[in-house]
Amino acid sequence: MELLYLETVDSTNKYAKENLANIKDKTLIYANYQTAGRGRLNRKWNSNFGKNLYASFVLKPSKELKEVYSNLTQYLSLVLAEVFEEYQLIPTIKWPNDVRINGKKISGILAESIIERGELKGIVLGFGVNLNCSQEDIDKIDQPATSLNLEINKKIDRDIFIKKVTEKFCLRYNKFIEEGFLLIREDYKKRAEFLNSSIKIRIFDKEISGIAKDITESGAIKLVDENNIEHVLLIGDIL
Ligand code: BTN
Repeated sequence: MELLYLETVDSTNKYAKENLANIKDKTLIYANYQTAGRGRLNRKWNSNFGKNLYASFVLKPSKELKEVYSNLTQYLSLVLAEVFEEYQLIPTIKWPNDVRINGKKISGILAESIIERGELKGIVLGFGVNLNCSQEDIDKIDQPATSLNLEINKKIDRDIFIKKVTEKFCLRYNKFIEEGFLLIREDYKKRAEFLNSSIKIRIFDKEISGIAKDITESGAIKLVDENNIEHVLLIGDIL
């Protein structure tokens, strides 16, 4: 894995997309500070100078788009969860790819594919991890959130954290691309929140309520509603 460090950038995802042709497959771009970090659903992802991890994997697995690529965010969420476990924490994954500790979000993932004339040029798998936030930083976030240092009462060494993530990511990446979500399904399910409980999922402008019954072989969530109708959703947000 190549590492590319940027002191300040608008967004590591945006940088990766704009410089894609000059960035090798399996490169991790990370920055000290982002001036315009982006989250899912056009949300902002705030930056704290020098404290946290703002990073994007650049991946170029093939020229054609494959279904498994949409599961890469889940693969990364599992990698991050396993890294948090190395800090003696018990993380959970909120489908599809938020990692939480004690119900509070600690990391977020934003994947983007770059396709030109029907050809896949690359996948940018961006992620942000709260590593060294103050309680004040956390209080500014508009949803329950936490930071690794606050969970273990210790300052986090970002370089060590990056090494753990990149090593773990590389460990099963090739196999994951070949075999798909099934490779990690059991590991993912072990950490998945809400299984067998009642949830509501927003998908575009629709909301579906039901019991989360399973995570399928392709990483979708299976929901059974009050009329016993089964919904298998590949995208959406648990509310
Ligand atoms: C989410 O909304 O949960 C996803 C947040 C993703 C944030 C990361 S930080 C590094 C990369 N660059 C961005 O602009 N966004 C992602």
